Amino acid sequence: MKYTKLSQTEDLMPTLGLGTWQASSDVIESIVYKALNLGYRHIDTAFNYNNEEAIGIAIKKWIDDGKGSRQDLFITTKLPHVGNRASDVKKFLELQLSRLQLDYLDLYLIHVPFAFHCDPKTLTPIVKHTGEYELDVETDHISIWKVMEECQKEGLIRNLGLSNFSENQIAKIIKTASFKPQVLQVELHAYFQQIPLRKFCEENDIIVTAYAPLGSPGAKDHFVNKYNYSPDKFPDLLGLPDIKEIADKYSKTPAQVLLRFLVQEKVVVIPKSTSENRIHENSNIYDFELTPAEVNRLRKLDRGEEGRIFNFLFWKGVDKHPEYPFDLQKINA
Ligand SMILES: NC(=O)c1ccc[n+]([C@@H]2O[C@H](COP(=O)([O-])OP(=O)(O)OC[C@H]3O[C@@H](n4cnc5c(N)ncnc54)[C@H](OP(=O)(O)O)[C@@H]3O)[C@@H](O)[C@H]2O)c1
Repeated sequence: MKYTKLSQTEDLMPTLGLGTWQASSDVIESIVYKALNLGYRHIDTAFNYNNEEAIGIAIKKWIDDGKGSRQDLFITTKLPHVGNRASDVKKFLELQLSRLQLDYLDLYLIHVPFAFHCDPKTLTPIVKHTGEYELDVETDHISIWKVMEECQKEGLIRNLGLSNFSENQIAKIIKTASFKPQVLQVELHAYFQQIPLRKFCEENDIIVTAYAPLGSPGAKDHFVNKYNYSPDKFPDLLGLPDIKEIADKYSKTPAQVLLRFLVQEKVVVIPKSTSENRIHENSNIYDFELTPAEVNRLRKLDRGEEGRIFNFLFWKGVDKHPEYPFDLQKINA
């Protein structure tokens, strides 16, 4: 396993992690256990993935079975959109820690910069009869961040970060933070390489994690019939001739080339798979190196904003939130 060093704490974050979105509890428990046995040390989950309990069971079993210790692992989860207010941070964090059966998280991210009102019974967003989500427009990142810092001081979280935030939103937090964001998790793959945001993060000592590093092929089924999505928006990165040609040269698979490209670009990757063969395949990316010419060829696949898959418009009305992070004019251009 390879690691990157985080600012301020100097903690080591594995450059490859296991993504777990769309991985249901019944399958993810055994996959996380197998992934840890295979050498994965970094697991990415979120309140919204509804699988923290199963992941907690797998981690506990792996430690109880004497396979390794808690300190060997890097566990990330995220504050949900329904808990995106200072008064709720600790409540959600404690619930998530108890679901994961952990005393501390290695990394806690604010999942999205906007917020929905929360149904206290189900801990899900309140949706109006029109299908629109009830926005909590009072979102104040500075006060949320302060509570994140307090939780870190108490030892409940080791490292702090953001997800789906824009450059302006991150800059505002950096201005007042006593402990600065260390990690930004955003959509990032061959078609959407996030060049300006990565430059900004590098200048601010923020490690970038790529979600959907394979172009999220499973999202197509998930979003089918969802508001504001059409299947032709989804790229087939694994089928691209440029990727296949490079994969053949190294006797690797397209997925391995897509992941290798990103880690060579100093981006952390968290591919999701619930197949034992594919988690093995996705971890086997450190025994070959793309040439500078191949890296340049892959850089040219970037489509900028046009390559974005995740705009969150399936949450009807979300773009009316004052902290909606994306420029819709650029997305629809
Ligand atoms: N912060 C956020 O807002 C956010 C948003 C989205 C995702 N994420 C995180 O990022 C992780 C990764 O993103 P993602 O799950 O959307 O997309 P991804 O990792 O790019 O793609 C996952 C999909 O690719 C398939 N796959 C995995 N390995 C493969 C291989 N070697 N060959 C062919 N197909 C393969 C998986 O199917 P099988 O399972 O059947 O193998 C799954 O359908 C998520 O799981 C989650 O942890 C975060």
